[in-house]
Amino acid sequence: MKDRSFPKHIGIIMDGNGRWANIRGLPRVEGHRQGSHRSKDVIYAASDIGLNALTLYAFSSENWKRPEDEVSVLMQLLSFYIKAEIPHIFKKGIVFRVIGDRMKLSKDIRALIEQAELLTSGNSGMILAIAISYGGRDEIVRTVRKLWEKGIKLSDLDEDIFTSNLDTGELPPVDLIIRTGGEERLSNFLIWQAAYAELYFTDTLWPDFTREEFFFALHNYTQRERRFGAALERIVF
Ligand code: IPE
Ligand code: IPE
Ligand code: MG
Repeated sequence: MKDRSFPKHIGIIMDGNGRWANIRGLPRVEGHRQGSHRSKDVIYAASDIGLNALTLYAFSSENWKRPEDEVSVLMQLLSFYIKAEIPHIFKKGIVFRVIGDRMKLSKDIRALIEQAELLTSGNSGMILAIAISYGGRDEIVRTVRKLWEKGIKLSDLDEDIFTSNLDTGELPPVDLIIRTGGEERLSNFLIWQAAYAELYFTDTLWPDFTREEFFFALHNYTQRERRFGAALERIVF
């Protein structure tokens, strides 16, 4: 039996900005700038088709290891885009969220994120989660701490309680993870949540990723057979 249903939640690992710029003899930051335009396109495409949730991997917990000037440009771009897009995101009914360890971010960006989250919290459209300073392992460790602080007893702990306390607690399960840029790995993205996600890899570099390819990935998802470990129904001829 094929599950051809439409995905509720898509995660995207937006990779390949640096290589896109290198090929053109441009500085890596130019790739990040172009990449931000693509993110906008995909956000509104996803919201227009009625997706429930979209999580974009913008900056990993490991990306802090990059040269200071690249990190600083990435942070500037993130705050620029949040500021510039929030009015439009709000108008579209999108709920804006940030996942990751925001205590590592500057006070200014944190304040901006909080404002944007508050402004859009009453919306009822797509949830847009931007993963910033996000790492799946870090999220798991923070969740264990959170559960301990809440006083959850070990004997009461189960997968559902754990899942609902992750940064993505209010999001539906991730159905499809898209990675651009040709690498076939998760790089610490939604590692708990990805246990049964479908994966779609493409060589397209993120700044070249179009709405059309996004729709193609979605179509490809609808052709897959999700079994979640259960046996296939026997086909009797
Ligand atoms: C993805 O592009 C953006 C971030 C990780 C912030 P990269 O900067 O990793 O680009 P490549 O992989 O080096 O081409
Ligand atoms: C993953 O890309 C992180 C983001 C896209 C934000 P990386 O470029 O950091 O991943 P690796 O180093 O190729 O695994
Ligand atoms: Mg990369």
